Amino acid sequence: MLHVSITTAQQAPAGQDKLDGETLFATTCGWCHADGGREAGKGPKLANSQRTDDFIAQRIKHGKEGAMPAFGGTYNDEQIAEIIRYIRGLKDDAG
Ligand code: HEC
Repeated sequence: MLHVSITTAQQAPAGQDKLDGETLFATTCGWCHADGGREAGKGPKLANSQRTDDFIAQRIKHGKEGAMPAFGGTYNDEQIAEIIRYIRGLKDDAG
């Protein structure tokens, strides 16, 4: 008889309370803003954005109808600030 035991207790990702803009971006934004935001995908490239921090924060919170989901219920201000910090740190080495 084959016996398979499944453990479900270890599913919580480690370090979930740590603020890490790169990880937050990779999990929530990266599937539309390609290559970590360095390339256009479903959404535009974010590296070297000329937008203000406030614009980006508002976009993350409220999204854009028909284009980008709102993340105001997902991320608090601190997490959004970390994501913006990550975007500001992106190097656009394409040009
Ligand atoms: C479902 C795909 C999708 C996801 C997920 C997504 N975006 Fe977007 N995003 C878009 C699209 C499409 C646009 C362009 C909207 C428009 O027409 O202005 C956009 C626009 C933006 C802009 C404005 C760019 C500009 O200069 O006009 C920012 C900033 C941005 N996204 C950041 C993020 C961040 C940060 C996340 C993760 C928290 C994220 N996006 C998640 C699709 C997405």
